[in-house]
Amino acid sequence: MVTFTQTKEVQQWHTLEDGFDNLTRGTAPMPTPGQDEVLVEIKAVSLNYRDTEVTNGEYNHHKTLSKRSTPLVPCSDALGVIVALGPNADSTWSVGDRVLSTFSQSHLTGQITAQDLASGLGKPLDGVLQTYRVFPSTGLVRVPEYLTDEEASCLPIAAVTAWMAIFGMEPPFGTWAAKEEEGKQQPLKGKTVVLEGTGGVAVAGLQIAKAAGARTIITSSSDEKLRRAKEELGADYVVNYKTTPGWEEKVMEITEGNGADIILETGGAGTLYKALDCIAFGGLISCIGYTSGKEDKEGEGGSRMNMNLLVLRRNVTLKGIINGPRDRFEEMCEFYERHQIRPVVDRVFGFEEGKEAIKYLRSGSHFGKVVVKVQ
Ligand SMILES: NC(=O)c1ccc[n+]([C@@H]2O[C@H](COP(=O)([O-])OP(=O)(O)OC[C@H]3O[C@@H](n4cnc5c(N)ncnc54)[C@H](OP(=O)(O)O)[C@@H]3O)[C@@H](O)[C@H]2O)c1
Repeated sequence: MVTFTQTKEVQQWHTLEDGFDNLTRGTAPMPTPGQDEVLVEIKAVSLNYRDTEVTNGEYNHHKTLSKRSTPLVPCSDALGVIVALGPNADSTWSVGDRVLSTFSQSHLTGQITAQDLASGLGKPLDGVLQTYRVFPSTGLVRVPEYLTDEEASCLPIAAVTAWMAIFGMEPPFGTWAAKEEEGKQQPLKGKTVVLEGTGGVAVAGLQIAKAAGARTIITSSSDEKLRRAKEELGADYVVNYKTTPGWEEKVMEITEGNGADIILETGGAGTLYKALDCIAFGGLISCIGYTSGKEDKEGEGGSRMNMNLLVLRRNVTLKGIINGPRDRFEEMCEFYERHQIRPVVDRVFGFEEGKEAIKYLRSGSHFGKVVVKVQ
């Protein structure tokens, strides 16, 4: 076993899932990696909408994940460096390797299961808003070298979710990588992809879709964010969903009545029905999130066409997404590296500003990702 000076304490943020203002700082003894584990010094953590829900006691839609009675370390997405290896840790890892955490630590391939959900970082397991953490050898992926620590930390949830929302039902990148490299194939050429809002998942989705040759349409409540999406990331069409609440009609207009081929549905109650009105025949709606709400407003559901008919009507595939497995994360990193995609970091907070960082994310002021620099 490679040893590590065990003199330091681990600095942590703690939540009892009872509100942003009740987040507290604490310490824990430095852990020792077990048989097939590695100890990672955490350098950067990117925040996700889920982290705001967990700390605010709102992450309740997975019935199998109950609230813990002991303090929980929040957040799931970390970039770190391996500082010690357990006696039987995977020999592909060495001290000094730059690594990224995977969201569900046991989800290595295929369909996620209830058991995998129970290995989620930042609920129910202690997460990564801390200075050191032990991970199983299989709960990490190698970092694409061209990315900074802060940029790389943005990949585990936002980028993998966007990747799965677009390519999750397609063959893995390895099977079409060669054709793409030779320029014989642009996987989304001729396809239209819609992104809702300019948060972490949507911006990652925009970058992936553009790199794959799609025509992209992105919505936002902010004209300034739409300007950035167009000028900095090459979005083809932008629609302000506040000033144009009927953005689905705009999508139909842009696509000459055909509708979008893929929609990254991050809005939920306020957007899904709109998505169903602007999806192409045979299109894919990836159900990801609920920034506009988790429940239909009373009265509305009753008077609208039943979901069964809405899906049938345009021959749609409605696919629920929960992040993705480790092998799809690794293939996504290859795609990122080939296209030199750099995640958009809106703002970097210091470790001591963890509370402010989480509140800032929830305010929705950001474009892309919010990162906490740990050390
Ligand atoms: N299923 C999964 O595996 C998975 C993974 C990641 C995230 N999610 C979910 O996906 C959603 C987005 O996550 P995120 O981390 O990208 O969030 P985020 O970075 O916090 O982004 C939130 C953005 O959503 C947009 N938004 C707010 N209200 C909206 C509305 N009514 N219609 C359209 N857009 C709206 C805003 O964009 P503008 O400021 O541009 O208006 C806001 O900045 C969340 O619900 C999250 O829980 C699910």
